[in-house]
Amino acid sequence: MKKPPADPKTLAKFPGLLVLLGAGKMGQAMLDGWLARGLGPGKIVVLEPQPSKTIKALARRGLKLNPDKPAHAAAIVIAVKPQIAPAALPALRGYTGKTTLALSIMAGRTLRFLQDALPPGTAIVRAMPNTPAAIGRGITVATGNAPVSARQRKQASALLAAIGSVEWVRDETLMDAVTAVSGSGPAYVFLLAEAMAQAGIAAGLPSELAARLARETVAGSGELLHRSNLDAATLRQNVTSPGGTTAAALAVLMGPGGFDALLTRAVAAATRRSRELAG
Ligand SMILES: NC(=O)c1ccc[n+]([C@@H]2O[C@H](COP(=O)([O-])OP(=O)(O)OC[C@H]3O[C@@H](n4cnc5c(N)ncnc54)[C@H](OP(=O)(O)O)[C@@H]3O)[C@@H](O)[C@H]2O)c1
Repeated sequence: MKKPPADPKTLAKFPGLLVLLGAGKMGQAMLDGWLARGLGPGKIVVLEPQPSKTIKALARRGLKLNPDKPAHAAAIVIAVKPQIAPAALPALRGYTGKTTLALSIMAGRTLRFLQDALPPGTAIVRAMPNTPAAIGRGITVATGNAPVSARQRKQASALLAAIGSVEWVRDETLMDAVTAVSGSGPAYVFLLAEAMAQAGIAAGLPSELAARLARETVAGSGELLHRSNLDAATLRQNVTSPGGTTAAALAVLMGPGGFDALLTRAVAAATRRSRELAG
């Protein structure tokens, strides 16, 4: 079994100022991760119209909250809602320079959009996280434009690692499928817990017990998958004896029109929608 890793202090020597545009759910989760990885509050600027109590408290420890004057930033992280972007991005003027890395986690906002909105030649990374980021257990997929240097790519990885694992793709068009699998994916897993609870009720369990069994089974299995060195198929086979109860259920789930086929259709629908939204 893999041990849960301790937070490495990878950001203790971050080379300059880090600007966070938008400190909502995702922005706050990233900020928490950065601080846990040794980034000093004095190196952080937060641009946010409605800062949380935590951010106001950090401002008393040196974090710069909505400062009057911008200063050159080593990196800016864009975590506002995609629809806010055209109105919010001009606030970054004065923070960006030739060596600034812009890292966007906005869903559906392409590198092309960001290049048009930021000064020409800006190194830009577009990333797609997911909601387990809130507990540091997300997975983010990132892609960058040509000006992103190897050092900036490492920097982006270190910033994103604060909310979980990081993968890179070269081909930006893959971000639609990424959005459909890992971005939207947590909703599929929560739906599984809901459906298992409903199925338990249909099989005669009291509703509270059914909900608890479903919740703990999904959470515990996820944790087992996370900590185990075995892949999902092997873990599944390990609970399936030939001719047993699990095999009876899997014959339905893995049969024609079953789970695999349904999920393939669902992911294809989400991929199409992501493409439509990106325009
Ligand atoms: N949540 C997810 O599952 C998920 C997954 C992948 C990617 N993302 C992306 O992550 C980004 C953030 O999502 P979220 O869930 O964290 O949204 P959120 O909680 O709404 O956070 C956005 C924050 O930006 C603030 N804001 C609004 N206008 C601003 C401005 N002009 N300047 C600076 N800050 C401004 C908002 O303040 P107010 O509340 O006052 O408006 C809010 O605190 C989105 O682009 C989303 O696409 C989210």
